[in-house]
Amino acid sequence: MRTLCVFSGRETVMSDKKINIAIVGLGFGAEFIPIYQRHPNANMYAICQRTREKLDSIGDAFGIEKRYTDFNELLKDPKVDAVHINSPIPDHGWQSIAALKAGKHVACTVPMATSIADCKKIVELVKKTGLKYMMMETVVYAREFLFIKELYEKGDLGKIQFLQASHQQDMDGWPNYWPGLPPMWYATHCVGPVCALTNATADYVSCFGSGTIRKELVEKYNSPFAVETTHIKFKDSDLCARVYRSLFDVARQYRESIDVYGSKASVEWPLVEHEPLVLHRAKLPEHKIPKLVKSPDYAKYLPKQIRPFTTKGVYDLGKKTHLSFVQGAGHGGSHPHLANEFLMALVGGRDPFPNARQSSNWTCVGLCSHESALKGGAIVKLPAFTI
Ligand SMILES: NC(=O)c1ccc[n+]([C@@H]2O[C@H](COP(=O)([O-])OP(=O)(O)OC[C@H]3O[C@@H](n4cnc5c(N)ncnc54)[C@H](O)[C@@H]3O)[C@@H](O)[C@H]2O)c1
Repeated sequence: MRTLCVFSGRETVMSDKKINIAIVGLGFGAEFIPIYQRHPNANMYAICQRTREKLDSIGDAFGIEKRYTDFNELLKDPKVDAVHINSPIPDHGWQSIAALKAGKHVACTVPMATSIADCKKIVELVKKTGLKYMMMETVVYAREFLFIKELYEKGDLGKIQFLQASHQQDMDGWPNYWPGLPPMWYATHCVGPVCALTNATADYVSCFGSGTIRKELVEKYNSPFAVETTHIKFKDSDLCARVYRSLFDVARQYRESIDVYGSKASVEWPLVEHEPLVLHRAKLPEHKIPKLVKSPDYAKYLPKQIRPFTTKGVYDLGKKTHLSFVQGAGHGGSHPHLANEFLMALVGGRDPFPNARQSSNWTCVGLCSHESALKGGAIVKLPAFTI
């Protein structure tokens, strides 16, 4: 079985090649600047965002000379090898398509797109051009997930019998593309891990909507549900998974989670952030079955220059940026692993994990699930290009 590419960090010493990276969108995107600046196979070449003042503030703080306020101008720069897109959700699809058409490799934050048609175009362009595409799903490179994946690959969990995952977040007050977004349109944080654990491909889904969000939120996307909960059937597998999502009008601390139930051992994500995982082992006296375990850190699999970023972010560097536009480090220490995986794929001429097809499968689970919820839970098959 192929192990997660996060364990391929040692490839970095094998090549002197440097990839010219351009980061698009400098809110969350700015977190990645110092990582690329220190990675031995990257040249943090250009940054792009629409407002000149913010662009210059971040460019000055990090000493980046090439700056673009217009995405299409950036694409005309022949020195840009790869773009890492961190723009608002509705822009992911068209920007990825335009970048691939311009001959650039693409890393894009989640989700891949908000329409099945755009996901299809990206998959087709990658096939046609041979360029690489990676959706930068943080959960599948979070230390908790890597720990569970390691237990699974060592055989410690036995036969996997069931998976469930959740992502709950209160998005009131976030930028204007969020209000009313169907929960399943942003589902990769829970779909990604249930697919990635066993390298499974989703085949079909059935989703129910539950509850109702405020009237003024419903209007933009015509989506009434407070919670969407979907069952995913995997292709050529006896496994199914349940994932659920909420974005508005549900009282819950931010939580991304995956619970994995195996024949020898099961792992449950903590209910409250920063608490330990619970490992349940079979055939023990009842009171000895659960054990609290802390996930190790997997920085050792990264080039040494970027290892500190599994625990540190832009804030910790004391950079004078527009801090209100820059989010803190987090997401289980995944950011340096994501950047490293993308670069290693480009340097090594191999597909990243997740590649375009896998990213489309994870994203389309969400899009098909919302369609299913609108049809009262009808089974919806994933499009063929995602399988
Ligand atoms: N865990 C995760 O994977 C995670 C975490 C946070 C954010 N995100 C994703 O990152 C993206 C950005 O989130 P954010 O909170 O930083 O959003 P934001 O709205 O605060 O920032 C968006 C950035 O994109 C820029 N931008 C907008 N339109 C652009 C265009 N046409 N061309 C170039 N730049 C443009 C803006 O100037 C801004 O810098 C979102 O899609 C979000 O879903 C993912």
